[in-house]
Amino acid sequence: MNSKTKLCCLIGNPVEHSISPLIHNTLAEKLDINMVYAAFAVETEDVGSAISGAEALKFHGLNVTVPHKCTVIPFLKEIDPLAEKIGAVNTLVPCEGGYKGYNTDIIGLYRELCDEGLSIDGKDFIIIGAGGAAKAIVYLLASKGANRVWLLNRSLDKAELLANEVNAEFGEIVCPKRLTEYSDIPKNKYTIIQTTNVGMYPACDVAAIEDEAFYELCGAGVDIIFNPTTTRFMNKCMQHGAPAYNGLKMLLYQGIAAFELWNKIEVPKELAEFVYFQMKKEMNID
Ligand code: ATR
Repeated sequence: MNSKTKLCCLIGNPVEHSISPLIHNTLAEKLDINMVYAAFAVETEDVGSAISGAEALKFHGLNVTVPHKCTVIPFLKEIDPLAEKIGAVNTLVPCEGGYKGYNTDIIGLYRELCDEGLSIDGKDFIIIGAGGAAKAIVYLLASKGANRVWLLNRSLDKAELLANEVNAEFGEIVCPKRLTEYSDIPKNKYTIIQTTNVGMYPACDVAAIEDEAFYELCGAGVDIIFNPTTTRFMNKCMQHGAPAYNGLKMLLYQGIAAFELWNKIEVPKELAEFVYFQMKKEMNID
């Protein structure tokens, strides 16, 4: 570090188990970019002053994590249109007079789907959950040309709200349903994306949908959870012959997309693979 070192950081609460410092510091070191990345636990009432402080200190970039991804929006100078629609921001890039907010979580999922050969254009999907993560995913699928999205949620009203919002913009793509109402979904093989926190460590022995019949609909399963690395949902998909993926690559690529925005570069594929390997090592994952 010297007087030219660019500073980046994560704000959230808690942040002490975040893998983001490893992602960004590894990328900076390998690409010989004089940049460091630290993590700060910030209370909700201090989000505005944290942003002003970063601006005054000319921070090169910020990441924002739970629970501040929505709270931070009023403190931004500009916002990317997709992040604005999703209503959540995780990456801040300096712009004239402040920071511009982006949502690279969604870029991360898109790259993960591309990596695994799961195309979106013209395809049908099932989404489990209708919370913040599902909202971002449904916007991604609709904006990349998905044909139909069956949106299953425990509370129907939340699924309906999200479906109405997205359909108003993209046409009748999203079909909201109760979590138990999948029997009338046409028999087919769908990419199913699991967006709830059901099955996350330490309560790993559950899946949002337990019924084996549901998994007959599975052509491929994606769980946004990465701890455990194989969730019960993923196991059920695989037991029905479908490949299943966790959220670890999504995590990798959201970081890489942020790093690329800050440094205006493209991270080579081999380096992305190296960082992925380092992440798994740090997290004690095979
Ligand atoms: P996130 O931002 O991670 O998506 P969220 O906005 O709180 O978090 O959304 C959580 C999602 O998980 C919701 O779809 C929630 O269903 P409800 O809308 O009915 O609350 C879903 N969820 C949480 N716990 C669940 C459970 N035990 N069974 C089924 N769905 C659950």
